Amino acid sequence: MPILGSTWMLKWKITELTEQLFEWVSVFTAENQGAISVWVGPQPMVILLRPDYIKALLESNIVLTKGTEYEIMKNWLGLGLLLSTGDKWRNRRKLLTPAFHFSILNSFVSIYDKEAQIFIQQIGKYAGTKEIFDIFPFIKRCALDIICETSMGTKINAQTNHNHPYVKGVRRMNVLSFMYSRMPWMWIKPIWYASGYGGEYDRTLKLVTDFTRKVIEERKKEFLEKQRKISESTESSHENGISMPTKSNSRKSAFLDLLLSVQEEGLLTDEDIREEVDTFMFEGHDTTSSGMGWTLWCLAHHPKHQERVIQELDEVFGDSERPCTPDDLKELKYLENCIKEAMRLFPPVPMYTRLMEQDFECNDITIPKGATVFVSPMVVHRSISLWQKCQGYHPENFSEEFNLQRHPFAYIPFSAGPRNCIGQKFALMEEKTVLSWFFRHFKVEAELPMMENYPLLQVITVPSRGFPVKIIRRK
Ligand code: HEM
Repeated sequence: MPILGSTWMLKWKITELTEQLFEWVSVFTAENQGAISVWVGPQPMVILLRPDYIKALLESNIVLTKGTEYEIMKNWLGLGLLLSTGDKWRNRRKLLTPAFHFSILNSFVSIYDKEAQIFIQQIGKYAGTKEIFDIFPFIKRCALDIICETSMGTKINAQTNHNHPYVKGVRRMNVLSFMYSRMPWMWIKPIWYASGYGGEYDRTLKLVTDFTRKVIEERKKEFLEKQRKISESTESSHENGISMPTKSNSRKSAFLDLLLSVQEEGLLTDEDIREEVDTFMFEGHDTTSSGMGWTLWCLAHHPKHQERVIQELDEVFGDSERPCTPDDLKELKYLENCIKEAMRLFPPVPMYTRLMEQDFECNDITIPKGATVFVSPMVVHRSISLWQKCQGYHPENFSEEFNLQRHPFAYIPFSAGPRNCIGQKFALMEEKTVLSWFFRHFKVEAELPMMENYPLLQVITVPSRGFPVKIIRRK
């Protein structure tokens, strides 16, 4: 239909919409269809269903532009790494890749560890009470503290200060952005503002970006001061013949510091830095909270797998309360498989898109210029023809044997190809650290059946019922 496209067919309630989309997709995948198309308002959308089509799309070095669903995000994230395209994206990706080098990620483990310990203190009051509580807000605040400290070098203590305006602001930005992208009529500016959401969005955007700008400004002052002192002492030590630490190895490894050092080479403006820091803030905490939350949810319903996780942790840590190190993380293979399997059933980013700027030959089909192409990990991850153990929760899907047998594009929670997730190692290390602390101290149980908690397909996959669990202290 004009203006509405196929959206009039969509269920209004988000739980029903999710169910409806699953139903449609399962009918088409059962018919082995490679792609289907839907109209969202005036926009044609093509949804790729088969991994061979998805591979052709994601591996392309030409199709790099994101679809319009992120449009509203541009006010916040600007043309940072997530949303830029063409040469700007290529240059940024090259500049930022070293920020995710394993030595930097290893230096973040102590931050994950510290915040994980605060997390277990925060939830500790529920252990032994047999009370069912929603653990999701606790996980989100922990992930937010981690991303703030790693990307900005700033502590906002969201775990202990729930009403921090920045914490509330980031939450609200995500809700309003999702609302905007789902309702095409909101794309008409007068309606967006008449609804009241437009004004609220603008105020929240200002609050959130002003916060980042202020942090950058303060950090920059400190950074320049530190650089000045280093060069002064280098000069004086040269005079005395003593060798001093160089700029790079004396730097504290927050992403922001790395960006500031790149700025010194004249490659980034203050606003470029703000965009990237906000991009990490946006991409880097709701995703990992969703991943950790669904893993706990799955393990709460699968005590045998939970026992194996605990056994593995006991082998690595024994009874000790010592911090978790990068070497420990390498040992936690079963926990990693449990996290990966939770991301199979409930991928934190339920879909991502590309805009066709020219006709694209995707194997045997031509996707026309102007279309937006959707890839949904949720769809391929649940396709019976692609997974040995498709129904239910089976960490053994990630055993070496099964990994080799599978189509490489059957598992794509972090996307793949040139625009894959730059933070995937960061994410897995963070999740393993936090969950290791959780299971060193607690067991988890749930009463609500696992599949009655629907994954709502928002920008991030969130549970329809939160994560209502009971935790029991192990020691
Ligand atoms: C479980 C956690 C995570 C998942 C499932 C995830 C998933 C994804 C996916 C699917 C994409 C591609 C999106 C698209 O094509 O539109 C992406 C891109 C990206 N992610 Fe992640 N992500 C996670 C964690 C993180 C973290 C922790 C960071 C940063 C600290 C991060 C930073 C980024 C950035 C900057 C991009 C854009 C990369 C580019 O276009 O070059 N992500 N992520």
